[in-house]
Amino acid sequence: MTLSGLLDRYSNLFVKPFMIMTVSVIAAILTIAPFVIQFKTAPSLGMFKDLWFCRLWSLLGPISTKKDAIHVHPLVQQARGVVLDVGPGSGLVVNCFDKSKIEKIYGIEPCLDLHHQLHRNIRAAGLSDIYTVVGCGAEDTDKLREYGITPESVNTIVTIKVLCSVPTPEKTIESLYKLLVPGGQWLVFEHTQNRHSWLTRVFQAIYQLAWPHLLSGCNINRRTDDILANAGLWDMNELEVPKGEFHWDIIPHTAGRLVKA
Ligand SMILES: C[S@@+](CC[C@H](N)C(=O)[O-])C[C@H]1O[C@@H](n2cnc3c(N)ncnc32)[C@H](O)[C@@H]1O
Repeated sequence: MTLSGLLDRYSNLFVKPFMIMTVSVIAAILTIAPFVIQFKTAPSLGMFKDLWFCRLWSLLGPISTKKDAIHVHPLVQQARGVVLDVGPGSGLVVNCFDKSKIEKIYGIEPCLDLHHQLHRNIRAAGLSDIYTVVGCGAEDTDKLREYGITPESVNTIVTIKVLCSVPTPEKTIESLYKLLVPGGQWLVFEHTQNRHSWLTRVFQAIYQLAWPHLLSGCNINRRTDDILANAGLWDMNELEVPKGEFHWDIIPHTAGRLVKA
């Protein structure tokens, strides 16, 4: 292995995860003052975590979105019909939707502090007339029902860097699967456990001790591709490692399209 190859691997295993965790600690520090000012009465840990994530995503989101645009944009452009945009965050990729193919979009975003930016990006993308923001987690089927999101009512589910954070992933992903009509599609760009390098898996397991606490419940080594594959019957499962990722990547992805049988 060349010296530059060695440096790449060192940076991937140590520098990249430590930088992400350091940015998160900085975001927590930057959140303390606005939190104290904003919540003079009855502040809670949940409120702090929401504001913290909001701050963190304002720092990391644009970099991450730019880096992954080559994979994410063509994927999101395939959305059609009634669309469930799960965890849109601040709406950094809503501009990728092709409005001509879409009837309605529901953005399921539990972090209420991100809604202001999300609405702003929806307006900028010209989607205000078809995009409704729903303030709950994807697992909250009662709330989704209030919006008419019921089994077999959705043509496309979009999840971009979200399933690493949902609670009880098997249950949540199965209940999302049920919302798709037969022939409906699920567009996925998610990070997963590394399957190709045991050394990277060991490091992922070590980072996982702190990762969910520092990164708003995100799991660095969740087997999201397997959970999706086992959520129900698929006619097509095109999930694959995006081109250009190294087999030893500490934050490898699974990306592509699944079509419900
Ligand atoms: C890393 S951000 C990605 C945001 C956006 N998809 C993007 O690519 O810019 C993860 C998002 O998932 C949301 N999220 C976390 N748990 C969720 C859940 N149970 N249901 C829906 N969204 C959730 C978070 O609030 C956050 O906005």
